[in-house]
Amino acid sequence: MSEKENITIDELAAFCKRKGFVYPSSEIYGGLSGFWDYGHLGTMLKRNFENLWREYFLGLDDNFYEIEASEIMPEKVFVASGHLKNFTDIAAKCKKGHIERADHIVRKSLGKKVDGLTSEELLKLVQKHKIVCPICKSTIDYVGPINMMFPIQLGVGTTTTAFLRPETAQSPYVNFKIQHEVTRGKLPMGLALIGRAYRNELSPRNMLIRQRAFVQAELQIFFDPSKIDEHPDFGSIKNYKLQVVISDHRDKEVQNISAGDLAKRIPKFYVYHMAKVQKFYLDVLKFPKDKFRFYELDEKERAFYNKYHFDMEVDLGALGWTEIGGVHYRTDHDLKGHQEISKQNLTVYDEETKKRFIPNVLELSFGVDRNFQTLMTFAYGYNKERNNVVLHFHPKLAPVKAAIFPIVKTDEKFVALAREIYANLREEWNVTYDDSGSIGRRYSRMDEAGAPWCITIDDASLKKKVVTLRDRDTTKQIIVKIDDLRDVLRKLMNGEIAFERAGKIVETRVK
Ligand code: GAP
Repeated sequence: MSEKENITIDELAAFCKRKGFVYPSSEIYGGLSGFWDYGHLGTMLKRNFENLWREYFLGLDDNFYEIEASEIMPEKVFVASGHLKNFTDIAAKCKKGHIERADHIVRKSLGKKVDGLTSEELLKLVQKHKIVCPICKSTIDYVGPINMMFPIQLGVGTTTTAFLRPETAQSPYVNFKIQHEVTRGKLPMGLALIGRAYRNELSPRNMLIRQRAFVQAELQIFFDPSKIDEHPDFGSIKNYKLQVVISDHRDKEVQNISAGDLAKRIPKFYVYHMAKVQKFYLDVLKFPKDKFRFYELDEKERAFYNKYHFDMEVDLGALGWTEIGGVHYRTDHDLKGHQEISKQNLTVYDEETKKRFIPNVLELSFGVDRNFQTLMTFAYGYNKERNNVVLHFHPKLAPVKAAIFPIVKTDEKFVALAREIYANLREEWNVTYDDSGSIGRRYSRMDEAGAPWCITIDDASLKKKVVTLRDRDTTKQIIVKIDDLRDVLRKLMNGEIAFERAGKIVETRVK
């Protein structure tokens, strides 16, 4: 199979739009920079990712729960969290009024990363290297912070200011007290939330990577800080190798360090969850091993609320290593702030140690849209022999699990049986029925939707009650009894059986 690697952003965006996965929002009006809509296939893929995320992370501990919460929150929340003061991007403004992110302009101009620099440091670089506006080439005369939150005026004629939340995390923090009371009253307790966050990004770009509205899947784990260097299950991952870039070894693209060794410099509770995150990517989502790593941020680079901070990064080819999530040790920063501003007691009492304290938080944060774009990039391949794109999704992620084709649509007998099989499979999975065009064209449509299997109903189906099952990645075909079909698909999907062993191999002309 000859497949093209390193798809560019423009190619990916064009493909996603052509197949209706994802495309610019309100496009019939010219679009709105930084906003994207998901079509049917995209919605299914995103949902499958979210469901695998839920299943895996909520399954880590039986004291982890999922909640939903308002996307609009009062100003005080962000006074408490520090976002009102600190959640800023450093903007560069030119004489003609164009505004861009200062670090982006400087990085592009100097060709190196400039993360963590202050406004003053960036301004000095702009002046020293005579960096001009990338849009109109005029002089940059201002470099300074701009808050990234979207304020909202509530009601009519009132002065109540609220904000669209810039991260989902604040919702579990303001829900902590009640959730801790109504659950077991124990720690660690996890609150997971999948929902939208909003940021007034200065320069939205790279499709879903930098948007102004995006979905986050975040798990906030509240724990006793005196237990940060332990986890009852640490032994199970002690020898597991983590793929990391340590902040003082940036010369190495990636190092394989055992969890046990990493725990000599980072607390065990943190390292344990890093291992679980890496296992999610490599074992559940089956990301290529060499395209995933953790990247440690140093004191200057990390978010204002973090004490330890590793980003999850993926190698997106054309875009290079790109952040898609992070493991954040947020200490008691948020709950302490909320306790102070709300005047509510957010401490907990530990019967065992007889101590009262504010829980600390370990946050596992995932950008769903960035993960989506990663899944699309990794799945994408242009197959020259077939002359079409093939999306090699893992079956559990595939938006369409199988397509059912009657060999011809003019014969009612094939159509009736195909429809019956379609209705039966649909009870369990998202499958599709397609009777238009040649079988070859139907295969290529399904390759481009990433459907792992195509099922053809032909003469043998009527006479012998069997169907032909075609594998997307190899184009191999097998014969399967209609009565066994559901069971065979389930086993294939769970990786319990190899395709070649799931039925009798057939040789056909149409691949
Ligand atoms: N609660 C922690 C937090 O929000 P973050 O690093 O600012 O941390 C977490 O964001 C993740 O959200 C990022 O790793 C990224 O995947 C996603 N994300 C952040 N800003 C984004 C944007 N403008 N567009 C798309 N995804 C974004």
